Amino acid sequence: MASGAPRQPQAGRMTWVVLCPVDEVWEGTIRGAELPDGHRLALYHVDGQIHATDDTCTHGAASLSEDGRIEGPYVECTWHNGHFDVRTGQACSMPCTEPLKSWPVRIEGGRVWVDDDRP
Ligand code: FES
Repeated sequence: MASGAPRQPQAGRMTWVVLCPVDEVWEGTIRGAELPDGHRLALYHVDGQIHATDDTCTHGAASLSEDGRIEGPYVECTWHNGHFDVRTGQACSMPCTEPLKSWPVRIEGGRVWVDDDRP
């Protein structure tokens, strides 16, 4: 159920962060999650895989985990009906033009992990 191949952590750098139990991200739903520094993510369970993007729409301040609607592999931001591909973060319809940050995900020990690859 992992998305993408897990990457090895870089020496001296904590990269993988546990977010929640995998059974809290139900198929066809969006769940909000938070990194230790408070950065908000949206988790999507689509076609048996879990994907993660930033939670805040790139067009405005909407929370995709609260105001988004999942449509197959796409999330619609209901504020202005823009769409993103949850697998890549790519903006797919106006008014959204900037991609969401997409986070590498792995499932291990029954939990969802993301790679905090921010510089
Ligand atoms: S705030 Fe998301 S489409 Fe405008």
